[in-house]
Amino acid sequence: MNELSRRAAPRTSVPSTGGTDWPPTWNITSHGISTGRYIDPLFARLEYEKLWRKVWQAAARLDEIPDAGDYTVYDIGDQAILLVRVDPSTVKAYHNACPHRGTALAQGAGHFPSNRIMCPFHGWRWNLAGQNQFVLERQEFCGGSLRDSDVALKEVNVVLFAGFVFINLDPNPQPFDEFIAPLRALLEGLAVGDMHHYWWKSLSIPANWKVAQEAFFEAFHVPATHPQLEKGGAEVILGKREDAEFTHRYVNYEVFPHGHGRFFGGKKTPMAGHVNERKGDPLEEMAARLNLLVEGMDAMVLKEDIEVLLTLRGKPIPEGSSLGGEYMKALYATAAQQGRPMPKPIPEILGMWGGEVFIFPNLMVLPQAGNAMIYRIRPDGFDPDRCVFEILSTRTLPAAVKPPRATIDRVTDLGDPQQLLLIPRQDLGNIPRIQKGLHSQGIQHTWLAANQEKIILNMHQQLDRYLQA
Ligand code: FES
Ligand SMILES: [Fe+2]
Repeated sequence: MNELSRRAAPRTSVPSTGGTDWPPTWNITSHGISTGRYIDPLFARLEYEKLWRKVWQAAARLDEIPDAGDYTVYDIGDQAILLVRVDPSTVKAYHNACPHRGTALAQGAGHFPSNRIMCPFHGWRWNLAGQNQFVLERQEFCGGSLRDSDVALKEVNVVLFAGFVFINLDPNPQPFDEFIAPLRALLEGLAVGDMHHYWWKSLSIPANWKVAQEAFFEAFHVPATHPQLEKGGAEVILGKREDAEFTHRYVNYEVFPHGHGRFFGGKKTPMAGHVNERKGDPLEEMAARLNLLVEGMDAMVLKEDIEVLLTLRGKPIPEGSSLGGEYMKALYATAAQQGRPMPKPIPEILGMWGGEVFIFPNLMVLPQAGNAMIYRIRPDGFDPDRCVFEILSTRTLPAAVKPPRATIDRVTDLGDPQQLLLIPRQDLGNIPRIQKGLHSQGIQHTWLAANQEKIILNMHQQLDRYLQA
């Protein structure tokens, strides 16, 4: 079937996988990704059946439900999962449906008064552990022999890790330890589990969830998309210069089993004191470069980090050290005074600052000095052309500060500077355009750079292992 006729006569059921029903428009080629994977409603439906119902996924941050009785609801496809804090070390996940006649037990986020989960329809209720505690006119059900266990809330697998509540809808899922093994040491070393809510924005974007997240899988979009962050590189792109010091050439990309990946700049990052094509005072240039992140994102690098850097003004750098090295020392000394947790001070962890850890299928952690920006992107229902895109700014807190309960702000206008700062506005300016372009009959597949875009390919290869299982 050629491209035109396939588009004109879409199938109405999910095809079998691995056989002749897998159309060429869903293939991964040796050098790119076929566009059907981003635009075809049947592909989105297959992803739901074979990926989202089987994979571990971050359903919440623990900060959303800090106290016993707090709850939040996580939606994926047509399923809603109720996440409930039971005690300081326990979170339960339930299918959000009353066993009596199906009413959704909760909406949004909130707190169950007196730690009772009560159905609004007929008032049946459960404790936080999901055990039924009240059935109105119980004698009328099952001839009076209805057992509590018949109407207990239906649990979903849940694992707490790195401050996230991971869930899996598969009753017999891959062991979480096996799933996370390639990233466990990195995420623990980065202290992601100690990071708390600073701000969290949720956006509805007219793009496939993979299009949206792949915009954050590489650093080589920076000169064109964020020219203020890389002036020399931007000039090359504009044809004003032959070459420049491009940050992405310092970035290392790595892929892991189970679809995960990471990139990192090691010592060649602004946080480690490296500024491309330095002309003036190293400390002032470093502060100015970092300030672009504070003003452009208010995440990863925060204002207080720059204040620490500025305390080094006028201080000589000891023999054998560097500006970056002294800055690290100052950050750790300040954090120690505050009793604030910090990432493990070892080269592999410090080298991740300014990089990214990608947790398959849809979670990205971009760590810095005890801060991290986190992206979570998932499909909106079964629509291949829309996703829920969330940005979380998180940070570790001084020992004396009680972490706030996380609240989510809905962004209503992607172009509004009051709602989104410059850097995310720049990224999100591209994403709907990519989706629009992928619908064009003028493009059958994308082209992927072998190194810079390897996380994209690895992600799709793992996706196919789920889809073709
Ligand atoms: S539907 Fe929930 S108590 Fe009746
Ligand atoms: Fe970007």
